[in-house]
Amino acid sequence: MESVVVRGGKVLEGEVSVSGAKNSALPVLFSTLLAEGTHTLHNVPRLKDVESTCQLLELLGCKTQREGTTLTIQVPTLSNFEAHYDVVRKMRASILCLGPILAKYGQAQVSLPGGCAIGTRPINLHLEALKTLGAEITVEKGYVHASAKKLRGDTVLFETATVGGTENILMAAVFAEGKTIIENAAKEPEVVDLANYLNKMGAQIKGAGSSIITVEGVESLHPSEHTIIPDRIEAGTLLIAGALTGGKVKVTDCIPEHLDALISKMRESGFQISTEESSITVHPCTVWKGVDITTTPHPGFATDLQAQFMVLMTQAKGTSVITESIFENRFMHVQELSRLGADITPKTRVAVVRGRKGGLEGAPVMATDLRASASLVLAGLVAHGATKVNRIYHLDRGYENLEAKLRSLGADVERLHQ
Ligand code: EPU
Repeated sequence: MESVVVRGGKVLEGEVSVSGAKNSALPVLFSTLLAEGTHTLHNVPRLKDVESTCQLLELLGCKTQREGTTLTIQVPTLSNFEAHYDVVRKMRASILCLGPILAKYGQAQVSLPGGCAIGTRPINLHLEALKTLGAEITVEKGYVHASAKKLRGDTVLFETATVGGTENILMAAVFAEGKTIIENAAKEPEVVDLANYLNKMGAQIKGAGSSIITVEGVESLHPSEHTIIPDRIEAGTLLIAGALTGGKVKVTDCIPEHLDALISKMRESGFQISTEESSITVHPCTVWKGVDITTTPHPGFATDLQAQFMVLMTQAKGTSVITESIFENRFMHVQELSRLGADITPKTRVAVVRGRKGGLEGAPVMATDLRASASLVLAGLVAHGATKVNRIYHLDRGYENLEAKLRSLGADVERLHQ
C-alpha cells in the first residue's frame, strides 16, 4: 500500500499552480448526460474521483478521452439508466447522475452511496426536492428508483443548504415544464460553475451564486465547451502549507475571492497575504496567533479547509477554537495529529487547539479521508523527523500530485510504493 513520507523542517518558497476543481469537474461531467454529442472540458484535474466519474459515464455508454487537462466526452442516447453500487460506493458524488438521467430519460436507478468517514451524509434532501418536481421515488434493495414522465417546475425549499442537492435539482430542473425556483440554494462557486456550463448547453438558469436560483425549463440542450474553475480547496491547502513553514509562497491560477474566508482568518492570525487577479501570496511570518473558526456554507469558512487550518493553529501562539458545523464526524484527523504531539481537545463538533510552535514530532499516521490526509501531510512539513502518512489513496481522490507541487516549493516529500 502506498504512503507518503514527509521530512519536516524545510521552509517552502516559490510559486505553485492550482489545478481544476474536483468538486466542479464532477457535477459538470455528470451534466454532459443531458445532451447527446461531444462535450469538451478543459482544466479537468487528474484525480481518482474524476476517473471514477468517467468510469460511470462509460458504463452508461459514453466514451471519454483525455489529452492533457482536456477531456472530451461523447454522449450517446442512453439505454442503461443504472448507476451500480460498485461505482457509487467508491465515490458518493455518483448520486449526481440521478438528476440528469431522470430529467432526460424519465427514469433512473442509482445505488445509495453507503457510509462515509466524515458523517452520515444522507441524500434525503436530493430525493425530497426531486419529489417536489413530480418524481416518484422508492428506495429498494439499496437502490433509489426514480421515475417521472415529465418533471414539473415548482418551488423547492432546501431546509439545509446542500451543494450536491442543489446541483442535482439544477440538472433535473433544466427539462422540467415551467419554472423551478430553488430557495436556500447552495452558493458555492462549484454550483455557479455547473450553472454556467448548463447555460452554455442552452439551459435558462439565473441567480446561481445567490440563495435563490430560478430555472426556466427548456426542450433540449446541446453539447458545449467549458473550462473548469480552479480548485479553491487545493489553493487554500497550498497557501496554508507555505504559511506553516514560514515561507513566501505564491499560489497561482486561482480565484482569490473564492478564498476570502480563509484569507481573512489568516490575516487575523497575523499573516500578511497579498492578492492579485489570479494569485495569492503568503509572506514569511514567524509568530502567528490562535484564531477561532466555524465552518459554514460558502462564503463562510469551508469545511474542506478545516483540517488543514487546524494544523496551522497547532503552531500558533495561543488557543484556537475550531467548530465544525457542516459534518458531524469531521475531526478524524485530531487523533492522528495528537500522535504527532499536537495539543488538541476534541468534543463532538468543537476542537480546542493549544498552539505550540515546533511541538510536532514525526510518526507514522493514518489518513482517514481526503482532507484529513492533506492535513497530515501539512503537519509533516513542520514535524521534527519523518512523518509517514499511510492510506494515502485518499489524497489521490482530490489532489493532483500534491507531493510534486510541495516538492517544487522545496519540501522533502516522497511517495513509497510498498
Ligand atoms: N445533507 C443532508 N441531506 C441531504 C444532503 C445533505 O442532511 O440530502 C447534509 C449533509 O449531511 C451535511 C450538509 O447537509 O451535513 C451539507 O452537505 P452537502 O450536501 O452540501 O455536501 P455534499 O454535496 O455531499 C459537497 C462536497 C464536499 C464538501 C461539501 C460541503 C462534492 C463532490 N463534495 O458535498 O467535498 O465538503 O459539499 O461543502 O462537491 C471534499 O471535497 O473533501 C468534500 C467532502
